[in-house]
Amino acid sequence: MHKIWLDTDPGFDDWLAMLMLSANLDVSWLGVSVVAGNAPLATTYDNALRIKKHYHLDVPVYAGCDAPLGGPMETAQAILGDAGMATTGETLPQVDIGALEAEQSARIKRNPLPHAVDALIEAVRANPGAITLMCIAPLTNIAVALQRALDIAPLIKEIILMGGSSDQGNHTAAAEFNIFADPEAADVVFRAGIPLRMFGLNLCRQLQVTGAEVQQVRALGTARAKWLAGYFDAYLRIRSPDGSVPMPMYDPAVAIWLKRPELFSFRPAHVDIELEGRFTRGMTVCEFRIPRRAQANAEIAMTVDGPRAMQCMMQELLGTLS
Ligand code: RIB
Ligand code: CA
Repeated sequence: MHKIWLDTDPGFDDWLAMLMLSANLDVSWLGVSVVAGNAPLATTYDNALRIKKHYHLDVPVYAGCDAPLGGPMETAQAILGDAGMATTGETLPQVDIGALEAEQSARIKRNPLPHAVDALIEAVRANPGAITLMCIAPLTNIAVALQRALDIAPLIKEIILMGGSSDQGNHTAAAEFNIFADPEAADVVFRAGIPLRMFGLNLCRQLQVTGAEVQQVRALGTARAKWLAGYFDAYLRIRSPDGSVPMPMYDPAVAIWLKRPELFSFRPAHVDIELEGRFTRGMTVCEFRIPRRAQANAEIAMTVDGPRAMQCMMQELLGTLS
């Protein structure tokens, strides 16, 4: 049984990862911390609560950090739209945030709700050595938690994160978005000495989404399937307006690994986060000459059986859309 705490910036691919977590019977999902990333925090938090409400996710959701540790605020709205996730169909209906927060306060007997960083710290201390942090967003919440509670690093079982790349970037030529949005936070996390698995762009590009997956979702015909299919369709069209060019799948890569680890291979590396470079800020510099040149601080996901991984994702997703 994996005890999972999810740190996220919904985001459509985050949404898919959340649905996969909810379907995984080997996961005890303890909580969700939301962070600014794909869009400002108010938007990613609103997206997270709408997904929770409409897809019946029985997990507490907390609002976290709204700005990076260092450097300017960076979002992916130029690519994803103001809402951080676009749709070619019906917009996922709004929810009453106040009512949902009051409901959560009553359930956990805390009013007001704690900040996500404090909730994360409390969860780690209450489950020493047992929690896996699944990070699919800029690492601001995680870095602030490690800086605020110096005791928790050895209490965290593992960090499994979508971020970085052993080759090219996506937000810049050199940097992947989650790392680029807060390189100082990533530097804190990669230096923390916590066992870490990195699912970078080099891996995610082996997971390809096409119109066939979108159609599989739409064909279910339920309200939840229709909402998801519209956002899925818009996600696919990021790469090409007619959706004819396959789109990589990012955040679900980590959820697929939780379900089918045998589909993946890893290599140990020492990862440094570039903080200064005019063209390379946010780059994950991977030194694979281990231990000759450096001590490893991460396992880098290098290969995945793409078709079987996508089958796994679709199988898990479709079960949550009835
Ligand atoms: O580079 C991909 C990552 O950036 C994903 O986590 C996506 O949701 C965005 O946050
Ligand atoms: Ca994300």
